[in-house]
Amino acid sequence: MSNADLDNTARTILIENDQGGYTVPTKGLYPYQWNWDSVFVALGFATFDQDRAWREIEMLFEGQWRDGMVPHILFRKDDPSYFPGPKVWGTDGGPIPSSGHSQPPVAATVIRDLVDTDRSGKALERAGALFPQLMNWHRWYLAYRDPDNLGVLAIIHPWESGRDNLPDWDDALRAVEVKDIEPYERKDTSHVDPAMRPHKEDYDRYLSIMAACRSVGWDPAEVARTCPFFVADPGVTFIFLRASRDLLVLADKLGKEAEADEIRGWIAHMEKGAKNLWNGDLHAHVAFDRRTGKHTDGISSMSFLAPYAGLADAKTLTSLQGHFDRIAAKVRYTMPSYDPDHPSFEPLRYWRGPVWAMVNYMIARGFAEAGDAIRAEKLRSDTAQLVETSGFAEYFSPETAAGAGGGTFSWTAAIWLTWASPTHVKQAA
Ligand code: DGY
Repeated sequence: MSNADLDNTARTILIENDQGGYTVPTKGLYPYQWNWDSVFVALGFATFDQDRAWREIEMLFEGQWRDGMVPHILFRKDDPSYFPGPKVWGTDGGPIPSSGHSQPPVAATVIRDLVDTDRSGKALERAGALFPQLMNWHRWYLAYRDPDNLGVLAIIHPWESGRDNLPDWDDALRAVEVKDIEPYERKDTSHVDPAMRPHKEDYDRYLSIMAACRSVGWDPAEVARTCPFFVADPGVTFIFLRASRDLLVLADKLGKEAEADEIRGWIAHMEKGAKNLWNGDLHAHVAFDRRTGKHTDGISSMSFLAPYAGLADAKTLTSLQGHFDRIAAKVRYTMPSYDPDHPSFEPLRYWRGPVWAMVNYMIARGFAEAGDAIRAEKLRSDTAQLVETSGFAEYFSPETAAGAGGGTFSWTAAIWLTWASPTHVKQAA
């Protein structure tokens, strides 16, 4: 397929996954609105319909909880093809039935991008309408995912990281007691090869964490205090820090001085706090279990987001470039979601090895901003080759380029349109 054909296919995927203002990640496997999926999808729509891009994010924020949280799934209608649905979550925090936790907060970054690339003259007004909601969401993250004020954000469920079965969660997840769950039937493995999905032992614990949070009524302070899983995540932390920098730019553009001061305080605090994620043996930022204080021993693709978060001091950048080159020599396509030199690496099992287009996009952006155009371009051309070889899959083998997980995937299509497509590169030049 030519690049022009791929551009057309990508646009068609977004249009066909559109449910009337919001987009499903892919039909069947994920039939609802997912938080960070939608936000990346907005970047894809923005390449041909800016109004529709805004609508995607506005509809996501319609589901914001009273306490400020923006849920990871909005169940706008019941769909029996997905498990666990709204009844299992048992939440009551917002105006739309939803899951009970959040997902990486990329929204402020993408909203800033929409403002910067606006062709309608209306973007700042739309950003202004969402600004208080963004502030409340960021405040919620700081209050309930960093209750001890360490300057790093934790997740209360592997799903909150967006990287469900990442090896980083293994130890903390195994420590979760399996209890208070009803017999259940998974639906994901009826849509996708089970070898590409998490194991049943993982699902038993995913549901046990939900049961524990349900038992405290999803009260965010109680969840932070008692949740059996509470792990500081470099992914959410770096994405939040980056988003806070973009929120600050929006605050300045909108003349929100008090909020700008508040955000500056968050940024300064998190720049220091990020040191808590540093693993001195690996020379990289990794996850650590907030309950046990133990760091993980592997490098995930999100370790490479430090420059994206604005943490590009010489020590961090040089050591990341070393890891990048080591990994690039080991697999054909960067960036595997987990270090291929780690024993837990599995090239086709969801977040234990496969390459994800939107992660590559974020890493490349950070590297380019830190002055490393060569590695940024390798990430882009690897992503383009993956799509050219296997289409708009959910994720890809870093070894063979085989597509895996769901097909006709919205955020893969969006990232192609906004960044990976050679047509886009030519237009941007
Ligand atoms: C799933 O159902 O696999 C999702 O990743 C949860 O967000």
